[in-house]
Amino acid sequence: MLIVNSPHNPTGLVMTKEEIDQLANIAKKHNLIVLSDEMYEKIISDGTEHVSIASLPGMAERTVTVNGFSKAYAMTGWRIGYLHAPSPLYQGIFRVHQFNTACVPAFTQKAALAAMERAGDVLEYMRHSFALRRTLLADALSNTEQLQVMEAAGAFYLFVRVHHQEANIREFALRLLEDTGVATVPGTAFGDAGEGYLRLSYAASDHVLLEAAKRLVNYVSH
Ligand SMILES: Cc1ncc(COP(=O)(O)O)c(C=O)c1O
Repeated sequence: MLIVNSPHNPTGLVMTKEEIDQLANIAKKHNLIVLSDEMYEKIISDGTEHVSIASLPGMAERTVTVNGFSKAYAMTGWRIGYLHAPSPLYQGIFRVHQFNTACVPAFTQKAALAAMERAGDVLEYMRHSFALRRTLLADALSNTEQLQVMEAAGAFYLFVRVHHQEANIREFALRLLEDTGVATVPGTAFGDAGEGYLRLSYAASDHVLLEAAKRLVNYVSH
């Protein structure tokens, strides 16, 4: 199985149509099932296109697309998501789901329906706010050479390369939290390739982001 996640947690990267095309070709060539996690599809910068891999020719029959309400509708606590899968796979998924949770509670389904039917303008407002916050935070971190912010166009994360004196990025993140109160996620929480990086979430208000950025910049500059 090939697992695809765009827009991406933890980097905020959004894959281009060309990149998704290339992944689709690999999946077809090697007869792979694709799991496409599109949780952040609605949280994306102006002018950036989200491409669903299942929409490409010959892909719907080998792709499981998963999505949910946690991010775009800020409904993390409601625990509701959805998927689209080709029927042979769906039968197995259904069996597991049925005996794990039986079904999503009715009031949660109603809340999700209300979100879908009525979120319209709010969704657009949030999408725009996240885009502004992304720039706000990236700019606030840009005035020190100790931090390098990876370019991001989606989700609500920045992945930042940090030059520091600690043994590893986990130690740095713990010290940063203890000394400054700024909570981040060390890149290694997502795998070894994350060494040297911090994930910053900008799902917070502007003044909180600016204060956190000030403390982080201060911390790495001394
Ligand atoms: C890419 C991605 N997929 C799925 C999830 C899980 O979302 P949920 O709250 O619906 O379990 C997350 C949560 O952080 C995520 O980042």
